[in-house]
Amino acid sequence: MVPATHDTGTGDPVLFLHAFTMDASQWDHQVAALSEQVRCLRVDIWGCGASPPPPDGPPSLAAFAASTLDALDSLGIDRFAVVGLSMGGYLAFELWRLAPSRIRALAICNTRATADVEGSRNDRLAMADQVEHDGSVESIVEPMVVRLLSPWAREEAHIADPVRGRIRRCSPAGIAFAQRAIATRPDSTELLDTIDVPSLVIAGTQDVIVGPSEVHAIADRIKDARYAELDCGHLSNLEMPRPFNDALAGFLVPAGRVS
Ligand code: MLT
Repeated sequence: MVPATHDTGTGDPVLFLHAFTMDASQWDHQVAALSEQVRCLRVDIWGCGASPPPPDGPPSLAAFAASTLDALDSLGIDRFAVVGLSMGGYLAFELWRLAPSRIRALAICNTRATADVEGSRNDRLAMADQVEHDGSVESIVEPMVVRLLSPWAREEAHIADPVRGRIRRCSPAGIAFAQRAIATRPDSTELLDTIDVPSLVIAGTQDVIVGPSEVHAIADRIKDARYAELDCGHLSNLEMPRPFNDALAGFLVPAGRVS
């Protein structure tokens, strides 16, 4: 089941992978800033944004990554850069497992390489069961806003309201799929040793979902990775779009010339 794919701009292709409970519109600031320099491709995970519901079968990020590769194939795209934030970072690792020769650069933001500990896994499975039982995602909207955004960003309606809107555009099936898929993802720590393309790692100093030390551990392990820390919460690209875009443009545009 090919995901909804949004395609804006011209230049070397860059695939943007959004966070849990978000959709492709998480990347609107980056599209506005970068689409004259690079071709910005964004997918919505199944059950969120404009994507179809999740397919039958065991929920897996690898399955979604494979279907994202199909979407790129159908657009005739062979090599591309990847920008993944949080769940998007987990997906970036799956893409690297599946098709490393197709990836020319990797930007990994607000994410971790380790698998879940048992407590987090159980929390995810409980949320999946809850939204399915409710037939609604409403119970997770405010708790997710608190986790995703730093205190000041929560007070900014132009940041927080679109975040609420994206969560509400996810179906219970989409949330349940993503949580169960994230819960079963493999540990990617050793995979980091195999990454041999230009890499940028971005953390948020106030990120309560993936703290900067976990993000820094990724940069420590990938050979020659660049590391940037922004003074914000988990959704760094939404809270601090300008410094985020500066870091990304400085990375992607020279990397784009490499392909
Ligand atoms: C995300 O923002 O993608 C998720 O919160 C990541 C996670 O829960 O591990």
